[in-house]
Amino acid sequence: MKTRLIGKKAINVFACDTGNVDQKTIQSFGDEWKSFSKFSDHEIKVAGDQYFDIVPANIYSGKYVLDVGCGTGRWSKYISQMAGELEAIDPSEAVISAAALLQDNENVRVSQASAGNIPFPDDTFDFVLSLGVLHHIPDTRRAMQKCIDKVKPGGHFLVYLYYSLDNRGILFRSLFCLSNFVRKIISLLPFKFKKLICDLIAFTIYLPFIFMSRILEIIGFGKWLKYVPLSYYVGKSLNIIRNDALDRFGTPLEQRFSRNEIHKMLVDCGLTEIVFSEKEPYWHAIGKKN
Ligand SMILES: C[S@@+](CC[C@H](N)C(=O)[O-])C[C@H]1O[C@@H](n2cnc3c(N)ncnc32)[C@H](O)[C@@H]1O
Repeated sequence: MKTRLIGKKAINVFACDTGNVDQKTIQSFGDEWKSFSKFSDHEIKVAGDQYFDIVPANIYSGKYVLDVGCGTGRWSKYISQMAGELEAIDPSEAVISAAALLQDNENVRVSQASAGNIPFPDDTFDFVLSLGVLHHIPDTRRAMQKCIDKVKPGGHFLVYLYYSLDNRGILFRSLFCLSNFVRKIISLLPFKFKKLICDLIAFTIYLPFIFMSRILEIIGFGKWLKYVPLSYYVGKSLNIIRNDALDRFGTPLEQRFSRNEIHKMLVDCGLTEIVFSEKEPYWHAIGKKN
């Protein structure tokens, strides 16, 4: 095992190529997180509250936690004050940004490792989270099992997987088909061009929809927001919007799952007491390991 020193944090480096990784996707995230590595406490709090709406604090308070595919480490940061000890792992160069973001959090260690090769024994953690990660791995179900293997009996697993628009109508689904086709082309480009085009998309597509959603809200038609694409981003910072546009259109491998498919995967991996959030981002769910 090698070690890299980033500021005050030593990062342990483990073999990441386990056969269940997409190297182009890992490279793309390494580039992405170098460009979008800084999130304010406010940005982390606003977005974190949405992912953790179904997670009672006692699940991680004072507990041993693992963050699989931590990216810049923003969710580790979100719970770091309350968690006991926390391990954050990611196979990409994002670990450099994570080490920087988490450098004052002495209870958090960062390692470069993948979901297929998590460098901790099975049945170790009280709480494992993997947000927005497993759909970027070729065999999502197998990677999920690896994460859940690390949860202690009685512990919990929180996951966010891109939804297959199973709760949406024809308009959203058609827009998705179009955007997915565009993603497949943009994700082939060198990073510099990819970022430029995704910024253009953020300014010319995301912002007008967000503006329209905000107007609807102001004039009292807030209940119609669910029919407006990208209304989820109302109140989000430009930094988050640009980052998400790059994430959405720049990533080579993404898969999508319905709520039923995710539920079945979680059950097959050994979880019970599964709770899905009814709110965006879809779908995020938590379950307990018996
Ligand atoms: C969309 S980002 C999410 C990062 C973070 N969880 C967040 O929400 O801010 C997906 C992350 O998954 C990581 N990733 C890709 N393949 C992986 C694998 N095989 N094992 C673990 N993480 C992986 C990428 O490096 C990237 O940082």
